[in-house]
Amino acid sequence: MTPGPEGDDERGPEGRLWGGRFAQAPAAAAWLLGRSVGFDVRLWPYDLAGSQAHADELRRVGVLSDADHAAIVTALDAIRVELASGAFELRPGDEDLHGAVERRLVELAGDTGGRLRAGRSRNDQIVSDLRLYLRDAVDRLVAAVRDLQAALADSAERTLDWPAPGYTHLQRAQPVTLGHHLLAHAWALHRDVGRLRDARVRIDVSCLGSGALAGVTLGLDPAAYAERLGFAAVAPNSMDAVADRDFAVEFLAAAALLGVHLSRLGEEVVLWTSAEFGWAVVGDAFSTGSSIMPQKRNPDVAELVRAKAGRLVGDLVAVLVTLKGLPLTYDRDLQEDKEPVFDAVDTLEVALPAVAGMIRSLRFDAARLAAAAGGGFALATDVAEELVRRGVAFRQAHERVGGLVADCEARGVDLDGLDDEELRRTLPELADADLAALRSVPAALARRDAVSGTAPRRVAEQLARLRAELRADAAPAP
Ligand code: ARG
Repeated sequence: MTPGPEGDDERGPEGRLWGGRFAQAPAAAAWLLGRSVGFDVRLWPYDLAGSQAHADELRRVGVLSDADHAAIVTALDAIRVELASGAFELRPGDEDLHGAVERRLVELAGDTGGRLRAGRSRNDQIVSDLRLYLRDAVDRLVAAVRDLQAALADSAERTLDWPAPGYTHLQRAQPVTLGHHLLAHAWALHRDVGRLRDARVRIDVSCLGSGALAGVTLGLDPAAYAERLGFAAVAPNSMDAVADRDFAVEFLAAAALLGVHLSRLGEEVVLWTSAEFGWAVVGDAFSTGSSIMPQKRNPDVAELVRAKAGRLVGDLVAVLVTLKGLPLTYDRDLQEDKEPVFDAVDTLEVALPAVAGMIRSLRFDAARLAAAAGGGFALATDVAEELVRRGVAFRQAHERVGGLVADCEARGVDLDGLDDEELRRTLPELADADLAALRSVPAALARRDAVSGTAPRRVAEQLARLRAELRADAAPAP
């Protein structure tokens, strides 16, 4: 082996797993493009777990003697300590994590270290590492989403019956309770947990024992790896096993949608904390100031999380486009799956606790919410429905109340500004109606008494149901 054109013998054989058939070391430019150890090194706990399982399997089939196995396991343990403490030194000649670990293994265990590569390929190794990593990451993210749901539930509990304006088209529509509104976000997050868990089912599949693509020899048993690494299932087809990144796409899709949900919540906090809404104040610890305007209190957490949705969607799209049209089985393109996956996990691990903290810090202004809830023509639907109760077809009722609203607008008053006499004159069907109840926001809320509605007693039931789901989740598995 002679050095490549740039003459850097750091790219020599010691950190590479494939030098034998080449007369020249790789060119620096090619090496830099292909070198993944800078980002895949973080998979080390999983790579070492896979290597341990592989050493055990090689001993079982007699490829490793007990003494060789012991020497390899001792070296793997030492490497684990070095990686955990930061003492492990990456060399320019380490192409990826697998190569770096083998290089160190041979440094520590001599030629015996070179026996571990039998019966496996980086193709089944890397996909196994990524699956093990994602299995843990999903569990951590689910716990973080659960905590955010709990923050929303706590906030909803305090505001179960607080009147607030409900919107469609960002125009005031009908009064709701603030608790109902907050729980709406918690249920969206509930589906995100379901999607993450669903993805986890297809993440939790063992691929070691697939080899490069065609399956393994030497008596190695794919099911034994699954057992050793605690995978729930074994990939049925070795070619699919090394080519498949659907599990990463499913995770990224769940992550992107979770990011979109966080962005919708973030946008609402931005609106609620504006002077124009004035519904809430974000606590100091989750607010930021301006370097020039001393009075400013900015909702940066909400804005940042609104923006993070963009990169989460980008991470999903990056991997989907990488996979599109890829021929079976492993292609080096697949190396590009990892950074988007890491980015999505890292982004959510930072965002979720910040959003939970921000929600816990929100202080809502009950009086301002209540004033906004009843103002304008918020109860127009209730008036129309009262006419329906008295036999008027909804089509006519809608038309007549709409006409009344138009008159009021022309006179610069809202429905509340009409006195009872005038209301009865215009809508004679309401002659014996309880107009005070009809004009009352709390009564309007209580009328929405169907399951899933905003009546405070229904919101309380809804909250109890969410809490039960969160509790069931926190309970240790039987
Ligand atoms: N660094 C590679 C990846 O992340 C590992 C597998 C490489 N396999 C190969 N035959 N070049 O996908």
